[in-house]
Amino acid sequence: MSSEQDTVAQYFSGREKARKSAFSGIWSDELHAVFSDVAPYYDVASNVASLGLCSTWRQRFLSTVDLKPGDAVLDVCAGTNAVGIGLLKRQPAARVTAIDRSQAMQDVGQKLARANGVEIESFVGDVHKLPFPDNSFDVVTLQWASRHLQIVDVFSEIRRVLKPGGSFYHHDMLRPENRVVRALYSTYLKGCVSVTALIFGSGKKARSCRNYFVEAIELFYSSREITEMLEHVGFTEVKVQNAMGGIMANHRANKV
Ligand SMILES: C[S@@+](CC[C@H](N)C(=O)[O-])C[C@H]1O[C@@H](n2cnc3c(N)ncnc32)[C@H](O)[C@@H]1O
Repeated sequence: MSSEQDTVAQYFSGREKARKSAFSGIWSDELHAVFSDVAPYYDVASNVASLGLCSTWRQRFLSTVDLKPGDAVLDVCAGTNAVGIGLLKRQPAARVTAIDRSQAMQDVGQKLARANGVEIESFVGDVHKLPFPDNSFDVVTLQWASRHLQIVDVFSEIRRVLKPGGSFYHHDMLRPENRVVRALYSTYLKGCVSVTALIFGSGKKARSCRNYFVEAIELFYSSREITEMLEHVGFTEVKVQNAMGGIMANHRANKV
């Protein structure tokens, strides 16, 4: 390892340790309860919280995914299968596998897949260790979940299960580098998490996680750092589309 690579490894390892020490209790307990609680209304609530922009961002993300007939796709942290369903509508001859830790989210996801006339194979489990052999998938997607994960470990797992020549597509809310954008974004997030919890009558666990959703972004990575991290775990040809001053970004990364 060159000294530059060593510095990058130490930087990400330090940041990941800080995130783990701040959030590991929430990740292993409260967050799981939150997603079980919100599963029945997750898709509607996401649209309300994002003032309707959620569907637009998802469509934009889906449109970046190159899919060929017969491609094997893995959707990581699939939630209610919105990504898998969207991809199968575009390319019905692809095969989609979903993995998520929440049985409740996947139960809703399976119902939605059937209602949309598509089939998605479902796995329930923690994505820090993916239960698939090396080189299994042509495409891997991960949308709106990285903030809740030890992301260097998950990116490495994703690279392991991708076939050589395969692509990984990532979309998430990120930490804007500009301080003014960051302050405005935090204010918006605090407000919208509270209002959404109120409208949908969220349970106690979901309400108690209000601060977490804001703090998770504050300790998360910028779009530039996600690019560097993808390169650090061995991806190549990383391409990025930033939106809204770095609040959101789509990344595409290849495995050679
Ligand atoms: C905000 S939802 C996003 C769902 C979906 N990707 C989408 O675009 O709508 C985050 C999902 O990540 C899942 N999740 C969080 N931590 C996880 C972990 N360690 N392993 C597996 N799934 C996890 C949650 O259960 C939840 O379904």
